[in-house]
Formats: sequence, C-alpha cells, structure tokens
Amino acid sequence: RTRALCFRRYGSYSPCAGVDAPDLRAYFTTPIFYVNAAPHIGHLYSALLADALCRHRRLRVPGSASTRFSTGTDEHGLKIQQAAASAGLAPIELCDQVSAQFQQLFREAGISSTDFIRTTEARHRLAVQHFWGVLEARGLLYKGLYEGWYCASDECFLPEGKVVWQLGPTGDSCPVSLESGHPVSWTKEENYIFRLSQFQEPLQRWLRNHPQAITPEPFRQAVLQWLEEELPDLSVSRRSSHLHWGIPVPGDDSQTIYVWLDALVNYLTIIGYPDAEFKSWWPSTSHIIGKDILKFHAIYWPALLLGAGLRPPHRIYVHSHWTVSGQKMSKSLGNVVDPRTCLDRYTVDGFRYFLLRQGVPNWDCDYYDEKVVKLLDSELADALGGLLNRCTASRINPSGIYPTFCTACFPSEPGITRPSTRAQAEDYALVSAVATLPKQVEDYYDNFQIYKALEAVSICVRQTNGFVQRHAPWKLNWESPADAPWLGTVLHVALECLRVFGTLLQPVTPSLADKLLSRLGVSATERSLGELYFLPRFYGHPSPFEGRKLGPETGLLFPRLDQSRAWLVKAHRT
Ligand code: MSP
Repeated sequence: RTRALCFRRYGSYSPCAGVDAPDLRAYFTTPIFYVNAAPHIGHLYSALLADALCRHRRLRVPGSASTRFSTGTDEHGLKIQQAAASAGLAPIELCDQVSAQFQQLFREAGISSTDFIRTTEARHRLAVQHFWGVLEARGLLYKGLYEGWYCASDECFLPEGKVVWQLGPTGDSCPVSLESGHPVSWTKEENYIFRLSQFQEPLQRWLRNHPQAITPEPFRQAVLQWLEEELPDLSVSRRSSHLHWGIPVPGDDSQTIYVWLDALVNYLTIIGYPDAEFKSWWPSTSHIIGKDILKFHAIYWPALLLGAGLRPPHRIYVHSHWTVSGQKMSKSLGNVVDPRTCLDRYTVDGFRYFLLRQGVPNWDCDYYDEKVVKLLDSELADALGGLLNRCTASRINPSGIYPTFCTACFPSEPGITRPSTRAQAEDYALVSAVATLPKQVEDYYDNFQIYKALEAVSICVRQTNGFVQRHAPWKLNWESPADAPWLGTVLHVALECLRVFGTLLQPVTPSLADKLLSRLGVSATERSLGELYFLPRFYGHPSPFEGRKLGPETGLLFPRLDQSRAWLVKAHRT
C-alpha cells in the first residue's frame, strides 16, 4: 500500500490526487552579509542552505516565475564605518571591495540567487525611508533619551544583565557582551524609539498560532521564552555625528536610521516595496538565518512588519554555527576557514555536499579538513561513483543501453514465487526504500533537515550497492538465455535507483547530479520531482528509459580526494 501511494505521489501517470498543491509563490532569502571582513565558511553555509531549499522547491514546482531567491550585503552602520576607518578606506570603497568578494564566492559556489541587494543602493534607501514614514504615520515612533550599552560588532543595544566585565588585552577590565564576547560601550543620546513593547502579545499570538513559523522547534521555544520577559521599546536611530554611514531619518538629518531596521527592510526592497507588486511575494517568504540573528528576525522584524501593517514572514529557518577546533571562527583568533580554498580543494559539489551533509541546524558543528576528505571519499567517490561505474561500465553493459526490466524475474507481488522469480526479500525492501525516498526527502526539506535528506539518500545508495553485490551481475552472462533477463533486470533496477539519487541530489550537488543523470541518458526535461516515476515497469507501466542509449562516459563521477590531493599530505606534515 505504501509503495502504491508513493508511486502515485512521484510516479503516477494520472494527476497527483490527494497531494497538497504547494504555495504558488515562494521567496527565499539569506541574511545580507556584513562587509567588514571577507566571507568565511559560515557565511557560505547560510547561503547554501537557502540555495538547497530553493533548488528543491524549483524541482517540485518547475517554472522560474514562481520562485525567488535573494541575497546581498549589509553595508551601513557603525561596524562598517569603523572597519573602513581602520583600513584607511572610504566606507563605500570597503563596501565595493567586500561586496564583490561575496558576489564572486556565491557565483563560484553555484548559489542560484535571483536577486542581489546592496543596502547602499538608491532603491533601498527609498524603501527604508518609506517604511520609516509608515511607522511614523502609524504613531509607532517617538523621540526619547536612550541610555545604555551598545555593541558595535553585533550592532545591538544590550541590557545591563547582558554585559560582563573581562580583562582586555592591556590588562584593564572592559565591558563585553555576555553572548558574543564583543566589546560594548556606553551610549547616551536622544534617538527615535519604536514602540516594540506594544507587540509583545501579538508576537506571542503569532508564534503560538503558527507552530511552523520558526524551525527547528527549539528556536521557536527560545523566542517564546524571550517574549515572556519584558520587551522594552527599541531605539531605531543614532546621532548622525556619531554614525554618519547610513540612511538619514526622513526630515531629520541629525539622525541616522539604525542599521538593523535598514538591513531588515532589504527583504522588502528586493520585491519592489513600496510599489504594490511586492504584495505578490509577501508574506510567502522563507528567511534562512543563523541563530545569532534570531532575535532580530523573530522579534524585531515581525514587530516592525506588524507595525507597518504587514504580516510576519511565512517561515524562519534557523541554523547553528561552524566552529574550528571547538572555537568560534574569528579574524583575531586567525582560525577563519576560507571558503574559496575549500571549493578549490574539494570541488564545488564536494564542498557543498560536505557542508550540507554535516551541518545540523540544531547544533554547532566543528570543521576540520580530514573530515571532509573522509566523507567525500566514502559517500561520493566510493559509494555513489562506484555504483554508477559498476552499472554502466562497458564490460558489464557492452551495448551501452538502459537494459530491459523482466517482470517475471522481479514480479510486483513479493509473496508469489514462480520458477522465473529471482528477486529476494531484500530486493523488495530496496525497491520500497527507494520508492519512498523522494517523499522522505521532501519532508526533511520541509523540516529544514537537509542533512537528514542526504543521509537518507546515502543509506539507499549503500542498500543499492548491497543489491548489486548480492546479485553480482559481473558473474552473469548476456549470452545465456537463463541469465540475460535477470542481468538486465539487476542493472535496470540499479540504474533506476541511481536516477532517483541523481534527481534528489540536484539541489545539493548540481554539477555532479547533472553528470550522473546525463550518463544515464536522462534528459533535462526528465529531472523534476514531478517526472520522477521510479521503476515504472515494476508497477506495470512502460518505462521511457528502457532500451534507450546511455549518455557518453565522461570519467569518474567524483575522483577520490585522498589520492589526488598532495596538499593534504603536506598539511599533515606541518
Ligand atoms: N548583516 C547581518 C544580517 C542582516 S540580515 C537582515 C549579519 N551579517 S553576518 O555577516 O554577520 O552574518 C550573516 C550570516 O552568516 C548569519 O546568518 C550568521 O549566522 C552566519 N554566520 C556567521 N558566522 C557563522 C558561522 N561560524 N557558522 C555558520 N554561520 C555563521 O549578521
């Protein structure tokens, strides 16, 4: 029954009855990245998670018009102003340089964004000033004296309880943020203040009524917990004499808009705000963010949106951080892992696979090079590449065609054994596992568990290798009438499994999946999830692949790294 249902979901020749129609439009966003320093693997990870979610959605709902995916750079604020000053650059020069680095990295890493925003663009200033005007017109801004701690690195105000005193490099005691460890300074000035406190209850209601608003669940619980505490009003501007690198408050040049308000509005600028067209994308939005910026996205942003008469975003997906040898990555510790070196060493697809397979949103993950080599060699080179090679090599498949499936050898009812039946119980288990895999993967994507989706694929790859090993097609003979139908069937089943794996891996390893599917002879129009009719012959349907010429042999799917990378040996020695 499960098998039949699953076939209908992904393989039916009739319309997918009973399947929820996905939302018509989907808008994915990454955070916009600070340009005070070069990108590192944590930034790439944020962008990759969004990219994989977006690519998976495109496979589910083909048609580029229904999916949008934005990224960009966050260029204003004290942090950038200070970084430019210490680099001896004008702020815009620093922004131009570092924004270009992010753009180049994302191009190289195959981030399939449709929009890139820089907050220094004129369209953004317009959107932010309009948004400000709406808040003002709705009576949500007032002028008042703000006195408290400010952390320029995190660009946030901190209550007394979140500040601790630590010994600084010169031996003096310095105030730092309890959470980030970054230095804080005392600020006292007249600012514009947003009536955030009015939104405590509406935010609680929103989160209680939308259990899927923040994923994974522990992060939603954390936000609900924060909302149990006092929610003070929020200072949303700084004196221009102190912070000049930003967007001026409309009608009051003596004040600059707080960088987080400025930055969050990027999500609206992208979709054309304030022009009415933005409404076709809002709020069907999925924000992908790191846990360090949860408060800004799950409290400030929805409150600002509600204040401006808009709905909170549809979903917020939160991930944890990459550490190096158990430590936070930082320029001062000198342990920042350069993503471009990694893409170079492990290939784009290899590194994408590693970060998404090993990165668990709920917990921090530790990075080290040996882990990458071990994972990629075992899962991409040996298991997946080996499987493809075993089933397509000319010594095993001299005709180079997608072989015929023999229903007498592998009947669809496992219970009935005839003399012609060659399939065993484990073979039925394999078919059932691969048939349910696309739905399983889809559920994992919905729950922001891409690592689990990849683990599920990897388990099935192993199971398929077991199937091939069990029936040892290399011991069967095409010339023998007794062997040939079963030999064809074993290869047909293995190729069908590979076709499913290739299709499902597209969001994570697009080039490798393309290579795999091209080798199987699967055309570009046969690669969406809606087209994924797994093993139709087993279910009594014709197969479009049977008898088709395989694609050309283009070399190893993923060459092993430990043999080809001399740098690793060097790294071990030093
Ligand atoms: N500019 C703000 C975001 C504004 S969005 C309206 C910002 N920028 S950031 O450059 O500091 O961080 C961007 C993203 O990178 C965040 O999601 C953050 O969590 C992520 N990461 C930064 N360091 C990270 C790791 N070490 N590991 C994983 N992700 C990390 O915050």
